[in-house]
Order: sequence, then structure tokens, then C-alpha cells
Amino acid sequence: MNKLILFFFFFTLMSGASAQFQAIENEDDVPEYKLPDPLKAFNGKNIRNTKKWESKRRPELLKFFTQNMYGEIPGTLEISSVELLEKSASALNGAAERKQVDLYFKNSGKTLHFTVLMYLPKTAGKKPIFLGYNFLGNHTITDDVNIVISSAWAPDNPSYGIINNQLTEQSRGVGSDRWPVEKIIDAGFGLATIYYGEVDPDIDDFSNGIHPLLYVDDQQQPADNEWGAITAWAWGLSRTMDYFETDDSIDESKVIVLGHSRLGKTALWAGARDQRFAAVISNNSGCGGAALSKRRFGETIWRINRSFPHWFCKNFKYYSKNEEKLPVDQHELIALIAPRPVYIASAEEDLWADPKGEFLSAMYASPVYKLYGKEGIDLTEMPALNQPIQNTVAYHIRTGKHNITDFDWDQYLKWATKYVK
Ligand code: GCU
Repeated sequence: MNKLILFFFFFTLMSGASAQFQAIENEDDVPEYKLPDPLKAFNGKNIRNTKKWESKRRPELLKFFTQNMYGEIPGTLEISSVELLEKSASALNGAAERKQVDLYFKNSGKTLHFTVLMYLPKTAGKKPIFLGYNFLGNHTITDDVNIVISSAWAPDNPSYGIINNQLTEQSRGVGSDRWPVEKIIDAGFGLATIYYGEVDPDIDDFSNGIHPLLYVDDQQQPADNEWGAITAWAWGLSRTMDYFETDDSIDESKVIVLGHSRLGKTALWAGARDQRFAAVISNNSGCGGAALSKRRFGETIWRINRSFPHWFCKNFKYYSKNEEKLPVDQHELIALIAPRPVYIASAEEDLWADPKGEFLSAMYASPVYKLYGKEGIDLTEMPALNQPIQNTVAYHIRTGKHNITDFDWDQYLKWATKYVK
């Protein structure tokens, strides 16, 4: 066979494979699968108490997820300087204080910085705070004209005025329906957000973002077990937590990390890795987030690795169309957050993210919470639409599409007031 024929042979094979991908959207089509028991160690021993969970099982699960799924951070990078970009004692018509703070990182001649935008209630003392990334720049979360527009790379999107990969004034406030800032402040919480593209641009290119700061010698991309983008974003949340520990207006013991979709995957992983986060909220995080992989419902490991090859570490590709080989599943990612409160939320029409798989994950993580005497999800059937279950492990499925809505925020505020504030 000459090269051209060979090329066409592989081309047809590959395009055929993608054309053939039919997401499972019907419960009857879910294959049989067996979930690993979070309370049975890899060596088969039962884990009967929190001491054994903490000394043996939790570390081995964390190590597995690190080495084989999200990837290891190859070194440490601390904040090299904090710069106050802007501050106002009277934002949101006097209801809140606003701060924009730049965190700088330097290593081997390279620099990176990202901006943390904060709105804080004007109550006395240290405030509990929600921390979550935004998709399109800090200036999109409200129409506040004082929010600085990021100069970091963004995927072109002319309808939002993103041209030549630059964010512009045109998108100020376009995400405000996802960020009910006034309501959050009224409930007595602060809100901190960062444009995720400042930490690592969401593109399969490892020459930008935070990764190069930890390359050794002439390294061009992470090794097979080293960090993909989700770990990079989780790293940024932990460094923001480092900053909170130095800010007198923030209660670093009451930081609730949250995220929607790919940023929900990130919030779960950040909360699993870094036990300083007081609570975690996963909004429609789906595959690689809260949804069980072995069900193969909606988006699958193969599909996510193919569409977003930069999100997970390279080792994770081994599990594409090979879910039965996975010795863990996503309920164990949730279990790593125990005993801290965790909220998993789904949307009825978001079949791509497998609402039932997200529910089952919360349910199968619950025995670990029980070990700590905390109440998880003890139903075996999904709750009715718009009927949240709010225990230390919380879950709801609301009507509607893949999104983060006022309904979602109302539940998060109620739950966080009880379990964190
Ligand atoms: C895609 C992707 C999901 C992801 C989502 C998002 O749909 O397949 O895994 O959660 O984007 O981040 O909006």
C-alpha cells in the first residue's frame, strides 16, 4: 500500500469512528457495570473507620486520580506577589465592597498572573465566600463598568465580541444571569471569581498558561502522568485559597468552591485535592466530574478525551472505550471530599452530563460520609424534579437545560447558610 492509500484507510477508519459515536440517552442501553466499593482498599481489605480511610484508602484513591486521570503538578509554585488592581468601598449601589487583586507567579524566567475579582458584604469581620471560575472574563459577571477586562486568550466568539482571541467591552455583563451577585451579598456571603483562561487557556496547547512555568529543561508538554488543564485550573483555585489566608476580610475556613460544567469538574477536583476548601458545589459537571464513567451514558471517556485532549493527563486515554479497566469511578472522587459538605446538581434536559449518573455518584459516595457520622444521600431513587435533598451530601435535579440558574443559586445559598456559614 502506498502512503496515500494508507492515509485514506486511516482517515476513513477515524472519521467512521466519530460518525458512529452515538451517545447513550436511554436507560435501557446502559451496559452492565460493577462499581468499586469506596470502602474496600485496592488490596481487598475493608475500610471500617475514618482512621483507615484517612491513612490508607483516601491516599490511594487520591493517588490514582492524580496519576491516571487529572495529572500531577510537577513541583510547587507559590504566589510571588499580590497587587491590588482596584478597590471600592461602595460597589453595587453601596451594597458591597469590590476588590480586584492580581496574583503573580514567577519561575525559570517565566511569569503568569491572574486577577481575582471579589465582592464582599459590608458586614463586620471575616466573610464566608463562594469561589468559582467564569467562562468569559470577570467583566461578564455583572455590568459593573469598573471590572477590568482580561487580556488573556479567549476562543473567538463574535456574538460576544470576542475577536482575534481578545475579550472586549461588548461582553460586559453577558453572564450576569449566572451570577446573582446581589443575592449572594444579601445572604451574607462574598463572591470571588477568576477568568479561567488566565490560568490556562482552554485549548490543546501546552505552550501557554501555567504549565510552562514548571517545565524542566526543554520540556514542551506535560509528561503522561502530569497535569492537564483541569488540574491547572484546580491549582489556580488553591493559590487563590493561599491568598485568602492572607486577606483579613475573608474567612478562609469558609470558602465554598463551585463551578459549572467543565468548571464543575474543576471544583470537584480542587476540593478533593485541597482540604482547606470548606465545601464543594458541582453544577452539571457530567463526564470527568460527578457522573459515573462506567455507565457510559451521554458523554463518555473516549469522547471527552477526543474532544478535549488537554483536559486530563495523557494516562487517562488508556481508559477510552475501556471503562471496565478503571479501578475507580467518580463516586470516589466525591468521597475524597468527605466529611466536608458537597452539593451535586443536575438538569433534566442535560442528558450529555448524565443526571442519573451524577445522582448515583452522590449516593455511592455517601457510605464514606456515614463513616464520619454525616448524612449523605440515602434514597435509592432520584428525587422528583426541583425537590432538593439537602444533607451534608446534597443533590437536586431541576427542570431545564445545561446551565447555572437562579434556582440553582437559591438552593446553594440555603444549603451553604446551613452547612458552612
Ligand atoms: C462540553 C463537554 C462537557 C463540558 C461542557 C462545558 O459539552 O463535552 O464535558 O462539561 O462542554 O464545560 O460546558
